[in-house]
Amino acid sequence: MNALIEAGGLHVYYGASHVLRGVDVRIAPGESVGLVGRNGMGKTTLIRSLMGQVKSAQGQVRISGRDCTHAQPHAIARLGLAYVPEGHGIFPNLNVRENLQVAARPGVRGGREWTYSRVLDTFPRLRERLGHGGQQLSGGEQQMLAIGRALMTNPDLLILDEATEGLAPLIVAEIWKIIREIRATGMSALIVDRNYRAVLEHTDRCLVMEKGLIVQDGDSASLARQPEQLTRYLGV
Ligand SMILES: Nc1ncnc2c1ncn2[C@@H]1O[C@H](COP(=O)(O)OP(=O)(O)O)[C@@H](O)[C@H]1O
Ligand SMILES: [Mg+2]
Repeated sequence: MNALIEAGGLHVYYGASHVLRGVDVRIAPGESVGLVGRNGMGKTTLIRSLMGQVKSAQGQVRISGRDCTHAQPHAIARLGLAYVPEGHGIFPNLNVRENLQVAARPGVRGGREWTYSRVLDTFPRLRERLGHGGQQLSGGEQQMLAIGRALMTNPDLLILDEATEGLAPLIVAEIWKIIREIRATGMSALIVDRNYRAVLEHTDRCLVMEKGLIVQDGDSASLARQPEQLTRYLGV
């Protein structure tokens, strides 16, 4: 079966700084994959290069078998990838309803499971805030709105970069609960989070990044039983 996304030998530079040093990533349809590593190791850069937002100097990206190495970000998003960046990326001047409705579209194969009403069922807090502007929401509500917007595109792969960062524990628990619900629908996910235990609990497989390389790629359940395989790279 075609991988949903398959990247090989990715190298990315920011000026003279060699940030991705030959990264391979493969995510199968329905697979949930974690990506952990200390600050500055290249996780966000990897995601941005998969999304076409940073140019790689070398390497290939294929999405559902199609060569997307030089594709524009909007074209990549149209192939069924939804990316919730660090710091959300919602429209602060639109209200909750508008933020969700402008994102709405069927999936690549016409899937329309994630409707406006289903997203509001998943995020009851957003239903209570429909008329509020994006900038009037709490940090947790903004994060939920960002995930809700991503779901409105009916993606095959949902990419969450530090979705729980800076949020209160109760909200963090709510976000993980939503991630479980989304996983149960069979949507693929790529999840970056500082809490490696939570990542292992919510994924099938986990990648560890260190200095621009994937240094571990293992089954999440096995890694959860032998966390030292991972923690030696995490500085915890
Ligand atoms: N736009 C940029 N310009 C220059 N350097 C950057 C830029 N974005 C990130 N970096 C650097 O690239 C490295 C990897 O960053 P990043 O991918 O954000 O890591 P992570 O997400 O794992 O914390 C860091 O050293 C960071 O300072
Ligand atoms: Mg990052």
